[in-house]
Amino acid sequence: MAGRPFAALQGPQGSPVTLWQEDSLLGLRRRVSAGSVDVVVTSPPYNRKVPYRSYRDDRPRREYLRWIARLGRSVDRALSEGGSFFLNMGGSPSDPWMPWDVAGALRERFVLQNVIVWLKSVAIDRAHVGAASGLTRDLVVGHYKPLRSERYVHGAYEYVFQFTRDGTVPIDRLAVGVAYSDKSNLRRWRGVDSDRRCRGNVWFLPYRTIRRRASDRPHPAPFPPELPERCLRLHGLPRARLVVDPFVGIGASAVAAARLARPFVGFDVDAEYLAETRRRLERLGTED
Ligand SMILES: C[S@@+](CC[C@H](N)C(=O)[O-])C[C@H]1O[C@@H](n2cnc3c(N)ncnc32)[C@H](O)[C@@H]1O
Repeated sequence: MAGRPFAALQGPQGSPVTLWQEDSLLGLRRRVSAGSVDVVVTSPPYNRKVPYRSYRDDRPRREYLRWIARLGRSVDRALSEGGSFFLNMGGSPSDPWMPWDVAGALRERFVLQNVIVWLKSVAIDRAHVGAASGLTRDLVVGHYKPLRSERYVHGAYEYVFQFTRDGTVPIDRLAVGVAYSDKSNLRRWRGVDSDRRCRGNVWFLPYRTIRRRASDRPHPAPFPPELPERCLRLHGLPRARLVVDPFVGIGASAVAAARLARPFVGFDVDAEYLAETRRRLERLGTED
């Protein structure tokens, strides 16, 4: 395989990280062997005119969806038999169908095994959660962009689709589980032998608050490393022998894989984003 990677380094626990500055649809075929990737975890451009440095995010919709279908074929070739393809995708209030159109474009190759809602902000009325929660007032947390609208409510979530070949890939629900709030469940249900239950399909993960976009976040559309980290744990860490992100951006998925000591390969067309990914990985263990 010709060419040199943009960077080849090691995570803090010695796992290899390789970054390629390359179109990932080609790179997935050139740089990884067929059937070798256990987890693909990624967020593609959403075709919403996001101002990326090296990619124009405004194709005609049909062309965009054909491109997503081609991405699906490249991922299908790379993915191992029991592999998971986690795709984060958001709609907008005026285009709520887009994530589902994207899921539809991947249907020719994959089964949609799980749909997870990534909740970025939430408002919980104290009166609805009861005294046991310990809340002393209503709780309003997470990312909020104050946009005025006569028509739409604030968009507070995105999707994470888990695609697999046939919908039967075992997952490790308790690896991302939560403790029972009502401990009587431990006595009442047969088969409950630890204080841990499935978290369900709504994951609340706020962004770190930023005020100055350009300096605080050198990329217009990152996800927090905790999102791919949960996906990797849900797939099952021992079965995540190679992790790939075809749209690595500033490297949240690379950070997640490195923290969990999983070998990682990432692609992006933009050298500055990849340089930031490398910087984050180099800082890992000291501050990230
Ligand atoms: C939604 S962003 C990914 C952000 C990433 N999850 C993060 O947390 O930083 C999509 C990325 O895809 C990259 N990109 C667009 N087209 C690409 C292609 N054909 N191959 C590789 N990367 C591409 C863009 O430069 C952008 O960084």
